[in-house]
Amino acid sequence: MGLIPDEIIAQVIERSDIVEVVSSYVPLKKAGRSFRGLSPFNNEKTPSFFVSPDKQIFHCFSSGEGGNVITFIMKMEHLDFPEAVRFLADRAGIIIPEDAKQTNPAKSSVAQQIFAVNELAAQSFHRQLLADKTEDAKIAREYLKQRNISLDTVKKFQLGYARNQWECLKNLLTKENIALTLIEKAGLIVARESKEGYYDRFRNRIIFPIFDVRNRCVAFGARTLENQEKPTAKYLNSPETPCYTKGQHLYGLNWAKQNIVQEDCVIIVEGYIDCLMPHQVGVCNVVASLGTALTVDQIRLIRRYTRNIVLLFDTDKAGEAAMFRSLDILIEEEMNVKIVSLSEGEDPDSFIRQFGVEAFRQRINDAQSLFDYKLVKLRQRYDAKQVEGKAKIADEMLSTIIKFKNAIVRSGYISQLAKLLSISEQALATELNKLTLNFQEKKENIITAPSNIQQQAQGIEFCLLKLLLHYPKFHKIVKNEIELTDIEDANIKTVLQTMIGGEGLIEPFNPSIFIDQFDNQNARQLMTKALADPMDDMTNAAKMLDDCVERLKSKRIKKYRQELREKMTEAELEGNLQELDNLKELFNQSIKG
Ligand code: CTP
Ligand code: MN
Repeated sequence: MGLIPDEIIAQVIERSDIVEVVSSYVPLKKAGRSFRGLSPFNNEKTPSFFVSPDKQIFHCFSSGEGGNVITFIMKMEHLDFPEAVRFLADRAGIIIPEDAKQTNPAKSSVAQQIFAVNELAAQSFHRQLLADKTEDAKIAREYLKQRNISLDTVKKFQLGYARNQWECLKNLLTKENIALTLIEKAGLIVARESKEGYYDRFRNRIIFPIFDVRNRCVAFGARTLENQEKPTAKYLNSPETPCYTKGQHLYGLNWAKQNIVQEDCVIIVEGYIDCLMPHQVGVCNVVASLGTALTVDQIRLIRRYTRNIVLLFDTDKAGEAAMFRSLDILIEEEMNVKIVSLSEGEDPDSFIRQFGVEAFRQRINDAQSLFDYKLVKLRQRYDAKQVEGKAKIADEMLSTIIKFKNAIVRSGYISQLAKLLSISEQALATELNKLTLNFQEKKENIITAPSNIQQQAQGIEFCLLKLLLHYPKFHKIVKNEIELTDIEDANIKTVLQTMIGGEGLIEPFNPSIFIDQFDNQNARQLMTKALADPMDDMTNAAKMLDDCVERLKSKRIKKYRQELREKMTEAELEGNLQELDNLKELFNQSIKG
């Protein structure tokens, strides 16, 4: 992919209002001239995430992270710089001219190529479902109808049909000049074992394309039509590819993310149809985990949009086990979890079909806390009247309780559990403490050192940076009065060099574009912190500037004198009297100023 021209990048920044972009992920509240919210990048209870509409930057005071709208999208969507620019360009309807001309498919990454192949495949599956005149396709349409899946839903989720043929997609894609090896890498065809050649992986199945949050088709799920003569797997999925790692995506998130933010809650189900059925009846904050326990990656993906999760998993043995595994990770990731259990053999799809959407909503509203849910399940499994049963239940409950970071929550659960099992709180607390010791030992290895940018970023030099970024017209004064050697902090020096050195600043000064010139992440974080710090009015700022300049100058003179003193001692030791005289002269001059 070609380089994106600077003016396009600037245009993308200008047309992407940072407050609007950030708000689609994190609720923001107005606070004075700026906006505040909970940081999407770390767990926090008090909002330390700051967005400035004037400066078009964000800064997170708890982690030190900061930047402009592009930096934000890079972090939020896990994209690299050009990807983030393209993401925002897409959003703002800006066409990147280079993409049209310079894109050389052979040069773009394998992942990019697979996205393109998947897109073509999804389109042709979709067309075949909507328009094929064959008997097989009719059966497929009939099947969806019989499952109550509407045409609108078919279109929204781009459902498709893979023909009942061995080389249909293969031929279709090779006609588009796509290499067989690439189609194979995308997982759409499989090499024959007995002879040469390939055959289509998905045949005579309903196709569910799986998209990422950027609406790129990453993989496919395919369901049998149940009209097969030989028994066959109900679902077939794409293998892992450079675009698709199991457990990193959630089916439906691309359609649900906006609703998840609006409702500040996500409903997680297991299956494809369990996901699209609620959407069809107007409950649109639903995604599917695709039949596995939730992974940390999936939870972090969700956490970009909300902390509130309702889990709606099947109640069979496998579903329950998946649920238990998911619960502990969810608590560790500090999500608020509630659980809905349907009766045995029911899933969201069959529930809605049988009882309707209002009953479904009611179930969601009545979701159980995870504590209650787990306890009910354990009491079905063990006899809470027997000592051994109590010990087993206590043990398993404690292993969950321990994961709550809040001590008050933990002690609340302990006393509930004590009452329910009629054992003393003390006994439970003792057991919990035993577990805590083990748990903390494990944790300590993971804790990472907080960034020390914040500490470095104090003192006069930071103050100077702050003044310059808030009042760029000061740069002339600074240029006349200050030398770069006066600045000790390497990051601040880099920034000042750009501001006061060379051709100076481009007018009008745009901080969010300015900070983009710096590859150095520490320098960028210092700048966003400086921009996020509140600033005095012009008169006070001018006084502060005088003060900074004075102090830096006097520091410079002190340093100079110290150097002279050292040199004088050296000259004296060497017996170099001429040199000593010269140095003394310089020293005297420096005192006179
Ligand atoms: N699944 C899968 N591969 C399988 C079985 C299941 O990927 N061999 C995933 C699918 O995403 C499926 C989900 O697990 O949707 C739940 O499986 P299951 O409960 O068996 O199917 P349903 O979703 O209920 O499918 P349907 O209603 O079409 O029978
Ligand atoms: Mn089902």
